[in-house]
Amino acid sequence: MGADPPEVFVICAMEDIARGGARPFLLHRLDEDGAARPLRLLVVRTRDDAFHGYVNACPHAGSWLNIDAGEVFTPDRGRLRCGRHGAEFEIESGLCVRGPCAGESLTPLALVLVAGDVCLCGIRLVEDDDPPRHPEDLEDSLEITIHP
Ligand code: FES
Repeated sequence: MGADPPEVFVICAMEDIARGGARPFLLHRLDEDGAARPLRLLVVRTRDDAFHGYVNACPHAGSWLNIDAGEVFTPDRGRLRCGRHGAEFEIESGLCVRGPCAGESLTPLALVLVAGDVCLCGIRLVEDDDPPRHPEDLEDSLEITIHP
């Protein structure tokens, strides 16, 4: 008798995020007590076509990275950047390398790619009849793309 397979939830299609871009999502996770709690997810697609998922909460003061200006990258697009006080994070690791929380890290979330979809695994989400495939419908969502 083996362990149950991890739950996998489709977040968006891979093509919904351009290479070098990122997109925030507001989801709701189910805690062990069955309560739904907001989960802010940031999905980043690198120029090399790798996907990384992070809790969209800055380790300095908890702001989501796209607060205020809606941008999550540094001007040179080389790092993630918090819009509140300017902390900068490595895209591939989430490690803060500059700013008020240097040495701390964004919380990673496990993503898997399944049949062209970006999926979150290991977290129970509240399932909607209409999953968030069109995140522009969410009030704080936006798409940020790196232009070559
Ligand atoms: S809340 Fe992100 S740098 Fe302060």
